[in-house]
Amino acid sequence: MVIFLKRTDTLDKYVIRGGRQLHGEVDISGAKNAAVAIIPAALMVKGVCRLENIPEISDTDKLLQILSRMGARVSYLGKNAVELDCTSVHMSDDIYDMTRTIRASYYLIGSMLGRFGEAKSTMPGGCNFGVRPIDQHIKGMVALGAEMDTGGGFITAKAKGGRLRGCKIFLDKVSVGATINVMLAATLAEGRTVIENVAREPHIVDLANFLNSMGADIRGAGTDVIKIRGVDSLHGGAYTLIPDQIEAGTYMAAVTATGGEIILNNVIPKHLECISAKLTEMGAEVEEYGDRVLVRRTQPLRHTNLKTRPYPGFPTDMQPQLSTVLCLADGVSVVTEGIWDNRYKYVNELRKMGAEIQVDGKTAIIEGPVQLRGAPVAACDLRAGAAMLIAGLVAEGETTIEDVIYIERGYQDFVGKLQRLGADVRVVSVPDEPCPAVPDVG
Ligand code: EPU
Repeated sequence: MVIFLKRTDTLDKYVIRGGRQLHGEVDISGAKNAAVAIIPAALMVKGVCRLENIPEISDTDKLLQILSRMGARVSYLGKNAVELDCTSVHMSDDIYDMTRTIRASYYLIGSMLGRFGEAKSTMPGGCNFGVRPIDQHIKGMVALGAEMDTGGGFITAKAKGGRLRGCKIFLDKVSVGATINVMLAATLAEGRTVIENVAREPHIVDLANFLNSMGADIRGAGTDVIKIRGVDSLHGGAYTLIPDQIEAGTYMAAVTATGGEIILNNVIPKHLECISAKLTEMGAEVEEYGDRVLVRRTQPLRHTNLKTRPYPGFPTDMQPQLSTVLCLADGVSVVTEGIWDNRYKYVNELRKMGAEIQVDGKTAIIEGPVQLRGAPVAACDLRAGAAMLIAGLVAEGETTIEDVIYIERGYQDFVGKLQRLGADVRVVSVPDEPCPAVPDVG
């Protein structure tokens, strides 16, 4: 069963002829990283949930398929809306082929523990930008009274006495994933949970708002302490997800690279503040109008430095795209990756296009300006793929991007949206070739 995506995976490539400015309007889709938390959260709801603004991407499609295999009724209503009825869900071993292929499937552990008092899923698989431990997820669930086992490629968990019990938890590391998973597990626990040193990303607030609108009692999301009073059950309702901060930032970076002027529709400008600030330093103009943002770039680009940090700092998921734009800026820029150990694999691909970037551990020194040249390159992960598209848009000649399956995990209709902004980009399908297995990236 495929929920939204019409075509099967093929060895698609994107072919771009660079040199055109972007002009026009683009509608930003719902936030991927909110959707991949809220869909598993819906497993805990006894009743009908209508979710709007779900991005039509392969990660959300797979999570919906997983819920369907667990006995949920899943109906696609069109226009990014999905109806989910998880009233009669059950544990299932028929999900592991899918859980293995998406990182966010580990949120099912928190929600299964809440719903069934026990949980089983696969360990999230291969990492693309360094070690990705889940010790803080485990620590939180153990503190809530779960017996956890991570042997043999699986995570299994059982609540002592059949139900988790609220407690105080201090996370040693600011982690989006651990914050979300522990929130999920605590929602239906008995008593009060206080989680300290939590992540503050907009999708954490969105998850709390979703759960509260279904009857949960969660306070403090968006600050560094979250307080949860466990409830006995969640009821159905309707919820609209926030727009995707990183998708919006990617188009903002793209027009800053190509020059031109675009309007982004359906955004929350506050979530974009630090991206807007960096792009402004680099020579773009950003104007906010309610839920729309205009980005224009007419002047030459200036170099700058940036360091990625947890929200409200500069997002790591924008680092590859901004580093690509900095290749075009006059002068030396220093980029420091503050979240992941190894998020510079895309630099080898950019070098094939003429970029002058030296990487030393978590620091990249970028010398500009260079005129990028079209070349055959690969998307090493989701945001690296977005960076390759931006590079292709400004490169002289033709760029071919392979492994675009990574890009399609996180960007709804990236090629279509760019075409409508005037880019010369197309998908070339190689039918009948099976897709290679894709390790986790989200
Ligand atoms: N960490 C630990 N222990 C843990 C969990 C995390 O040490 O138990 C460390 C990580 O190794 C990392 C840091 O804490 O150094 C932050 O990791 P975090 O848990 O915040 O990342 P995540 O939840 O695995 C999510 C997004 C990523 C995004 C990061 C940081 C999803 C599905 N993924 O990952 O998104 O880079 O937060 O903002 O929400 C993307 O969308 O392209 C993407 C990779």
